[in-house]
Amino acid sequence: MDLFRTKPISQLQEEASGHVLKRALGPWNLTFLGIGAVIGAGIFVLTGQAAANHAGPAITLSFVVAGLGCFFAGLCYAEFASMIPVSGSAYTYGYATMGEMVAWIIGWDLILEYLFASATVAVGWSGYFNAFLAEMNVYLPAVLTSAPFTVQGTHEIVRSQLCVNPATTAIFVDAVTHGKIPLDQCVQAGGVIMQGILNVPAMVLIVLVTILLVIGIKESATFNNAVVALKLLIVFAVIGFGFFYVNTANWSPFIPDQLVDASGKGIFGKFGWTGIVAGAGVIFFAYIGFDAVSTAAQEAKNPQRDLPIGILASLLICTLLYVLMSLVMTGLAPYKELNVPHPVFVAIDHAGPALKWLGYLVNIGAIAGLASVVLVLMMGQPRIFYSMARDGLLPEAFGRVHSKFKTPYVATIITGVAAAFISGLFPIGILGELVSIGTLLAFVIVCFGTMILRRTSPNIARPFKTPFVPLVPILGILICGYMMYGLPLDTWLRLLVWMALGMLIYFGYSYRKSKLAQK
Ligand code: ALA
Repeated sequence: MDLFRTKPISQLQEEASGHVLKRALGPWNLTFLGIGAVIGAGIFVLTGQAAANHAGPAITLSFVVAGLGCFFAGLCYAEFASMIPVSGSAYTYGYATMGEMVAWIIGWDLILEYLFASATVAVGWSGYFNAFLAEMNVYLPAVLTSAPFTVQGTHEIVRSQLCVNPATTAIFVDAVTHGKIPLDQCVQAGGVIMQGILNVPAMVLIVLVTILLVIGIKESATFNNAVVALKLLIVFAVIGFGFFYVNTANWSPFIPDQLVDASGKGIFGKFGWTGIVAGAGVIFFAYIGFDAVSTAAQEAKNPQRDLPIGILASLLICTLLYVLMSLVMTGLAPYKELNVPHPVFVAIDHAGPALKWLGYLVNIGAIAGLASVVLVLMMGQPRIFYSMARDGLLPEAFGRVHSKFKTPYVATIITGVAAAFISGLFPIGILGELVSIGTLLAFVIVCFGTMILRRTSPNIARPFKTPFVPLVPILGILICGYMMYGLPLDTWLRLLVWMALGMLIYFGYSYRKSKLAQK
């Protein structure tokens, strides 16, 4: 039964009060951290694909569905965060409620959400950054902006091949469509086929972010505030100016008819109502990160009041912006044309010359926005490692705090090295879905945890109480569970492999080294 040993809440609270990280963050900083982590590749990249392939203009409703699932989970996070303001987020909540093994599972699972997601978004950032430089006629060699491997089909890993323009050494782009020239037409078009070596810009971004995070939480938050302000301004501009150029014909039909197969049966996830659900599963990625606020619990000045504010305010603001932004995008351009890596830019392009200036700003907004996502996610990961190390489940070095900067610098550097490695080398096409399933699992467990703790410890002070328990957690579990269900089988298998690896480490190391075991 040692597997289910729990860490008493009183002990968690005591540890948090005698800790060494620097309490520098107020409610604004925390809300901005949430927005910093949330608005990124999801809205700037995935919205277009989800609208074109699954939901059409009703992608707006997909944002509402995914947002509701996150909101219910967010309410549960808020209760825990106010009750146990310790930096480990869902890992710590699991330790207090469901026992050590479940806590380990969540902690291991959160690596998918934070470490893997930051690497994924860094690669997206690198794509936007290269495109931006190319607009200014600055070209980085294609082989040094691409990972050496890529995924073919659903799981086969092969050497990545690129169509390179010999004049610029950059990826060969069609002058008219601005799309990459397909490999089979490359030589004909005058290009050369080369193999990717390393995604250097993604790695450089991660190294810079790591340095900032080691230097200080306050410095990191200040930088994040500036970047978030810029990206919010650009999102407001897209919504505000784009609105006047909407062609309402593009919204009709708002929910396109479901596609049917040869036998006349509706195809699941291809438009109609099922398309809205499938679209929600894809754009769920856009919401990932609001829970990163809870990893900064030990750096918040007044965590019990401000963590729920940071979590819920960032979530509500982002949901509202996503709904408006997706409405404007599908109103500006026919949804079928949005299946590109830069759909916001394409949508604005449809407004004509009057909004040309905004198109350029959109690229800057995406570059800034994606960088802040990487920053906040890479801030969250070391703080989870830190808590796990303090509990003895990871080596002690992960819990070391820098004497001058007061940051968990060893865990931050380890996170940086791992993220740089993943973003530079690995095929990340498959990682996005793995990140989503991992995060959804954490949300489901936190919703369960809220219900369990209401029964096992009804009398602990809860500065923020989730309303309508058990209805809210149950709805959170149902919506998040349904989005998990909609993800491909391959993604489930990868999750299982990742979890099996985690179990090996738990039983080989953490179970014996646990501080609770030594008591
Ligand atoms: N929500 C973050 C993004 O969309 C992870 O980039």
